[in-house]
Amino acid sequence: MQFVEAHGARIPQIGLGTMTLKEDVCVQAVKTALQVGYRHLDTAEFYGNEVENGAGLRASGVKREDVFICTKVRQGDLMPDNFARVIDQSLVKLQLPYVDLLLIHWNNKDIPLKTSVGALCKAKKDGKTKHVGVANFTTAMLEEAWGVTSEPLVCNQIEVHPFINQDKVLAACKKRGMAVVAYVPIARGKAPGAEALERIGKAHGKSAAQVSLRYLVQLGCVPIPRTATPAHLKENLDVFDFKLSDAEMADLKKLNATNMRVVNPPHAPVWDTP
Ligand SMILES: NC(=O)c1ccc[n+]([C@@H]2O[C@H](COP(=O)([O-])OP(=O)(O)OC[C@H]3O[C@@H](n4cnc5c(N)ncnc54)[C@H](OP(=O)(O)O)[C@@H]3O)[C@@H](O)[C@H]2O)c1
Repeated sequence: MQFVEAHGARIPQIGLGTMTLKEDVCVQAVKTALQVGYRHLDTAEFYGNEVENGAGLRASGVKREDVFICTKVRQGDLMPDNFARVIDQSLVKLQLPYVDLLLIHWNNKDIPLKTSVGALCKAKKDGKTKHVGVANFTTAMLEEAWGVTSEPLVCNQIEVHPFINQDKVLAACKKRGMAVVAYVPIARGKAPGAEALERIGKAHGKSAAQVSLRYLVQLGCVPIPRTATPAHLKENLDVFDFKLSDAEMADLKKLNATNMRVVNPPHAPVWDTP
């Protein structure tokens, strides 16, 4: 496993996304993932599967200290009292005294960042999380957040895959020394079948999904692909033994022009894509 380091956090560079995984499917996916070598789990209060993430962790036999666990507080719970209550409930569901990373899941435009980031930082000071960060933050939100935070924001978790151009947000994160955690890293299953990804994959004996993940790894991102399929769990981890050439990276970069945004709920910000 490779790691991305940011403000003292050491983040395993492939994580398991768990959105939509529920009940025993989630428990088994988490358990199997950890047993085949994953060391990073991505859950959220909103996903309704923190109980299953905790159960999968315990069933895996892997030591808790060896696993990097991220959860998130959603946009309706960012006022300090709610925030504190929700993270306490998340820890009860996970059956853990702390998580490794706690994120603001989405900004809430009706709550000042000073308030929401303040509540986030308090969770760290109270020992509920080792590190704090944000998700779905634009460059402007990042600048504002850094202006009010008392703790380093170790990451911004955003949509990144070959079919979207996130150069501006990536550059803003780099400037602040933040890791970029890439969600929907295989474009929610749309990477397989894409001509350039398939062609490049063939040249390396890899799948299109692996090429998409490798592209993100070489950009310095932390992809968190989701799957409950055992073969895909292994496949998605197996992206550290080949390297895309500069020409291949440039070929994949051309796909950015597709401008395919997979995640776009009503509360989503307008990405400052170039
Ligand atoms: N912070 C946020 O706002 C936010 C938003 C969205 C997502 N996320 C996080 O990011 C994670 C990943 O995003 P996502 O789950 O939406 O999308 P994704 O990981 O890009 O795609 C998941 C889909 O790809 C398929 N897949 C996985 N590996 C494959 C492989 N090797 N070959 C072929 N198909 C494969 C899966 O099907 P199979 O099960 O059949 O493999 C599933 O249908 C989420 O689970 C969540 O943890 C965060």
